[in-house]
Amino acid sequence: MNRRIGWGIVLVAAIGSAVVAWWWQGRDRIDATDKALVERGRGIYARACAECHGADLQGEPDWRIRKPSGELPAPPHDASGHTWHHDDEYLFAVTKHGLARFAPPDYKSAMPSFVGTLSDADIRAVLAFIKSTWPDEIRKRQEALNQKR
Ligand code: HEC
Repeated sequence: MNRRIGWGIVLVAAIGSAVVAWWWQGRDRIDATDKALVERGRGIYARACAECHGADLQGEPDWRIRKPSGELPAPPHDASGHTWHHDDEYLFAVTKHGLARFAPPDYKSAMPSFVGTLSDADIRAVLAFIKSTWPDEIRKRQEALNQKR
């Protein structure tokens, strides 16, 4: 084969795989079995989430009842909450942007946006940590939601 064409093919393949890698960033599953990722997420959770969602992921008391301010208390992230009723993409988006962005304009939510505070990698780590605390059965059910996308 002509040498130039050969290199052309290599170049196109390299660019192609770089684009695919970029596209997949943030879209692939958040891996709760990755020990290093989970450990990193544990620290981020303690710093950024525990004050509201609880050191043991237990949430605020009476988390289903709106406060006089109209805001909901922070729900638990353990198996008793509904975090696991959502797929990774939703969890990532809500953690990154806060809930208000996805709710009607007059909806009051105390869930803050972490844009500018946590990187995408930090958010993936913290969600990996949260997922790692779920019992197997719950993890499987949440994983099934990811498959439906
Ligand atoms: C200032 C308090 C506060 C902090 C800090 C906070 N949250 Fe929240 N979070 C909330 C509240 C309150 C809600 C429920 C909001 C609503 O429904 O209006 C919520 C909801 C969520 C939800 C949606 C759960 C569901 O089932 O729909 C996710 C996911 C979440 N938080 C993740 C996080 C993560 C991860 C962190 C740390 C990086 C964090 N939150 C930090 C208050 C907080």
